[in-house]
Amino acid sequence: MPPSVSINGAAQVLTPPEPGLPYLRHDRAREMGKEAGGLTIDGETIAALEPSSEAALQIDAGGCAVIPGLVDCHTHLPFAGWREREYAQKVAGESYEAIARAGGGIRSSARALSEATDEQVLAQAGELAAEMLRHGTTTFECKSGYGLSPDAEIRALELARGLADRVQQPTTSTALLAHAVPEGYDADGWMDEVARLVPAAVQLGSVTALDIYVESVAFTNEHLRRMGELAGRHGLDLRAHVEQFSSSGSVPVAIEAGARSVDHLACLPSEHVRPLAASETAAVLLPGAEFMGREHLPPARALADAGAICVLATDLNPGTSPVASLPLIIALAVRMYGWTPTEALLACTLNAAWVLRHSHRTGSLEPGKRADVLVLDGPIERVPYRFGHNPVVLVLSGGRLVYVRPDHAPRVTGEHADHAELVW
Ligand code: NIG
Ligand code: FE
Repeated sequence: MPPSVSINGAAQVLTPPEPGLPYLRHDRAREMGKEAGGLTIDGETIAALEPSSEAALQIDAGGCAVIPGLVDCHTHLPFAGWREREYAQKVAGESYEAIARAGGGIRSSARALSEATDEQVLAQAGELAAEMLRHGTTTFECKSGYGLSPDAEIRALELARGLADRVQQPTTSTALLAHAVPEGYDADGWMDEVARLVPAAVQLGSVTALDIYVESVAFTNEHLRRMGELAGRHGLDLRAHVEQFSSSGSVPVAIEAGARSVDHLACLPSEHVRPLAASETAAVLLPGAEFMGREHLPPARALADAGAICVLATDLNPGTSPVASLPLIIALAVRMYGWTPTEALLACTLNAAWVLRHSHRTGSLEPGKRADVLVLDGPIERVPYRFGHNPVVLVLSGGRLVYVRPDHAPRVTGEHADHAELVW
């Protein structure tokens, strides 16, 4: 059990408008509380939204904001290597489709994954997880999708399970079994293979969702329907990469298939905003990919105003979004979408936890929830404003103090203030 902790004298503490919400639709984001105060942590859990002089560890949060740990519900970890040359080609005008058709893109990351040892993959992913932790990410999603053969997809899911054992954060595992059509198959033939593969993926015990990429270079709405049936049959959630580079009209199909989330949405037609907002399917927006790829922008303001369950994530991957920092994603969303800082924070805390089915235990500061808590070096409104700056000075994960920025170490006092468990 970690020692009890009291966070004292914060200028702002971000709280939901009522306890026990599984998510907060974005037309209610303004109801989030930002009062001054503090909180007490007992063991792994938030005990009270007020400080306690009895706690073993005392944290001075004067001038700081205290917010829930960030949840990154869409990453492609673990992957091998990077694709910086391809990025330079893209910047010079080459299209994503042209690069993909010439054997680059997802296929080149599949090659890199097949050539890397398990240890190399886990070492790279572990370093990224530590970088994410320093930027406030206390829960994240892993995906397969760079396997592109039955054996390699299972290996990717095993690596995701292995990563879970070596990182500080709780993780989830999504089987992105339809990412690109593998060599030697057509899309229909590969979906037959996917149907055979799902039971083996389920057998691993770690997989909670299936995912598919619907795009002209990848899979169709018919395959999305089929993936939905597979998810339903095996008790898994359906996630879907849709409407990224062009519109396939996938959102109504995904909603009908019971998708937990639809991700990207840069080309979402305006007539699909209302049906999405009326559903419990979350709208996962990925401004890192939109910025790096100079993609279209999703109707993010309209989605928020219509009351969608809006979510932000990094999409951390070696192709479209080599971005690990959610504070940077928040800054992009505020500028590119016209969202308030509070809307952006809601989108990568409670609502992102909902996507991963973790919102009953993390994603908001409420007594009884897991003590995933961040202390920031200024008010909430400064996060998007100081673009590129990491505002996180202190991270608690399940009540454990796992990161303190060295210049803020004096904020921590008390009998257990030796930072023995810290990940620097
Ligand atoms: O989320 N769009 C498909 N998948 C990834 C990109 C994968 C890659 O280019 O390696 C995405 O953007
Ligand atoms: Fe993605």
